[in-house]
Amino acid sequence: MTPIEKIMDLARWAPSGDNTQPWRFEFLNPTTVIVHTFDCSKETVQDYKGNYSQFAVGCLLESCRIAASRYGSLKIEQNNNDFTLTLIPNDNPVINELEPYIYSRVTNRFPYSRKKISENLKSELGKNLDNGWTLAWFDENYLPKIAKLMFVFDLLAQPATKGIIDWNAKTSKYRLADETLGLDSLNLWMARQIFKSPFLTKWVFHRLGGKYISAFFGFFLPSLRTGAHVALMPPRELTTREDFIKAGENFQRFWLECTKNNVSLQMESGPIIFSRYAHDGVNPYDKSKEKLLNHLYKKFRELFPQHVTMAMLSRVGFAKPPSARSDRLTLEELKYHG
Ligand SMILES: Cc1cc2nc3c(=O)[nH]c(=O)nc-3n(C[C@H](O)[C@H](O)[C@H](O)COP(=O)(O)O)c2cc1C
Repeated sequence: MTPIEKIMDLARWAPSGDNTQPWRFEFLNPTTVIVHTFDCSKETVQDYKGNYSQFAVGCLLESCRIAASRYGSLKIEQNNNDFTLTLIPNDNPVINELEPYIYSRVTNRFPYSRKKISENLKSELGKNLDNGWTLAWFDENYLPKIAKLMFVFDLLAQPATKGIIDWNAKTSKYRLADETLGLDSLNLWMARQIFKSPFLTKWVFHRLGGKYISAFFGFFLPSLRTGAHVALMPPRELTTREDFIKAGENFQRFWLECTKNNVSLQMESGPIIFSRYAHDGVNPYDKSKEKLLNHLYKKFRELFPQHVTMAMLSRVGFAKPPSARSDRLTLEELKYHG
């Protein structure tokens, strides 16, 4: 493999919403690659305006920069949705201390210990953020309030499993394997039986109160069983594509620092994304969900006075590593074909 291929082979482990990997690579020579990016706004309601694909692109670009530190440094030139990455080799490279964690970083959707994150650790986790970017921490009294918010979010979004989840899978190359969802074995078994049939899904969710059970186990409990929730706060509201890319770059550094410190993390992007819809007066669902959407937005604003500038909400804490993780498309499969 050429140096730039090695860099991209590591960087492809960057996170993306529902593991969509909205990027393809065109290798030009041993030191240059064009990263072609796209958004998934037509395929998924969660990628409102393509902003969270752009966020993921930021995570990828930051991973590229960090991975390149083993060989030298990286020049990145943007042309709309394409990014030309050129490696500038250095005979005495200084390997970034976050490089070993690009591969081991993983989403942990299982419950965590409720042990608090110390003030020292909080500042350690935020130490790589750009100037003006901060972390806002929410623990103790906030846990039940955020758990309720996540419960409402899930009632709004579900059943949102179509095309996103690979059932009966420990790993998945371009979706979420069901074993990474954070469910215990009984709930996972039940979910597998129910989602096999669209009829059963509808029946259980709408007639049997399955939606409440799902929101309780999938979102309420994990939000409660956690060390803290934390928001990435930019210096000003995110509006442009570049703003969301920058948010992704900062977030990836924060997440890698969590991995380095054995702190588990799960993003909680849903309430932010749906609040953006509500703020713009757009309802991505049918009329029946309008009230719930506005209710979520109201609760979100009440809970987070600085909600306008919030780039990402996550939960973090101490936990054993998840029993399953998502895979990625191979470098070959990620090659750009025009
Ligand atoms: C912008 C963005 C939003 C995400 N939102 C969520 C989320 O709300 N809940 C969640 O469990 N994972 C979320 N993820 C994590 C992805 O699902 C995950 O990174 C991907 O499936 C790959 O798995 P891995 O992180 O374990 O490598 C998000 C990732 C990105 C980049």
